[in-house]
Amino acid sequence: MLKRLSPLFALVALTATAQEAPALKQFMPSGVYLGAAVNQRVSDGADAADRAIVLKHFNSVTPENLLKWEAVHPKADSYNFEPADRYVEMGTAAGMFVVGHTLVWHQQTPRWVFQNEAGKPVDRETLLTRMHEHIKAVAGRYRGRIGGWDVVNEAFEDDGTLRQTGWSRCIGPDFIEKAFEFAHEADPNAQLYYNDFNLWKPAKRKAVEKLVASLKAKGIRIDAVGEQAHYNIAGPTLDEIEAVIMGLSAQGVKVALTELDMDVLPTSPDMWGADLSKQRALKTETDIYTNGLPDKEQKRLGEHYAGLFRLIKKHQAVFSRVTFWGVTDRNSWLNDFPIRGRVNYPLLWGRDGKPKPAFFAVMEALKQK
Ligand code: XIL
Repeated sequence: MLKRLSPLFALVALTATAQEAPALKQFMPSGVYLGAAVNQRVSDGADAADRAIVLKHFNSVTPENLLKWEAVHPKADSYNFEPADRYVEMGTAAGMFVVGHTLVWHQQTPRWVFQNEAGKPVDRETLLTRMHEHIKAVAGRYRGRIGGWDVVNEAFEDDGTLRQTGWSRCIGPDFIEKAFEFAHEADPNAQLYYNDFNLWKPAKRKAVEKLVASLKAKGIRIDAVGEQAHYNIAGPTLDEIEAVIMGLSAQGVKVALTELDMDVLPTSPDMWGADLSKQRALKTETDIYTNGLPDKEQKRLGEHYAGLFRLIKKHQAVFSRVTFWGVTDRNSWLNDFPIRGRVNYPLLWGRDGKPKPAFFAVMEALKQK
């Protein structure tokens, strides 16, 4: 008898733990959304556990991949809207603020976009037309349902120069303003964002400040700048992050942390672009918590996150959203980036789907007066 009942007890116990953690979104300062990036298994409903966490704790969603060009527009004459439709449906049905990510980026964009039939680079007019049609089709389809778009992603290098990409090389620096104009035309009520990483590096932040000023001077809509916030526990510091918030908001836009996660593994500049054998060596050297994150590190992660959320509270007037890049550690992209196959712990929920000490640290930080 007992044996037959035990799964039920297990279920009750599981539900009780899930209920113990109050919905995190209720503690956010008013006017600041709490978001999560969701993968397709979450938006399709295949990952019911992560989906339940998202629906309970968050009031905004961002699609991790399915609205990127290669996913939604894989071939010149065909769009793949079904997964994106289900994503938008999930968010709107739950009354969430639904984000679109991303219209113009140099990554996860098929090569055909930049080439003609002979495989040669297209001319400026052709590329502008392709960009225009893409934005019209994608942002236009979700008009009134997607509340804000990452219009351009990662256009600058860390030193503040314009990144050399298929977009900038062919169109020139004004590809950015064109993208914003097309997005505004496709959905006049949608908020429009510029999104990038490492904005805490002063040269890069200044380049984005200049961009915002120039868009505004031309009367082109831009509502907020997103600092991706792929941070490491070793840095940046809160002071460096505060400089991003102050510098950008001074240009008359809101600031958001749009892809927040906190890598807890040792990092080094060598990891980027390392060849395979070097990658393997770096993996062995840095994959140091394969048996779980020690309590001391759990606590340290919590303190880091708490400090960040106190900063967000302090600047709530200019802050629009903080979105985590994922839900549980199990599905974080940081298990495979910048080195493949490591065990990372960057988020607020563990591999077991349970809130980590960092979850409660954030909650307490938000509850403090
Ligand atoms: C990442 C996704 O998380 C991965 O699943 C995918 O393989 C690569 O892209 N900056 C961005 C995001 O703007 O779109 C990226 O997302 C992470 C870096």
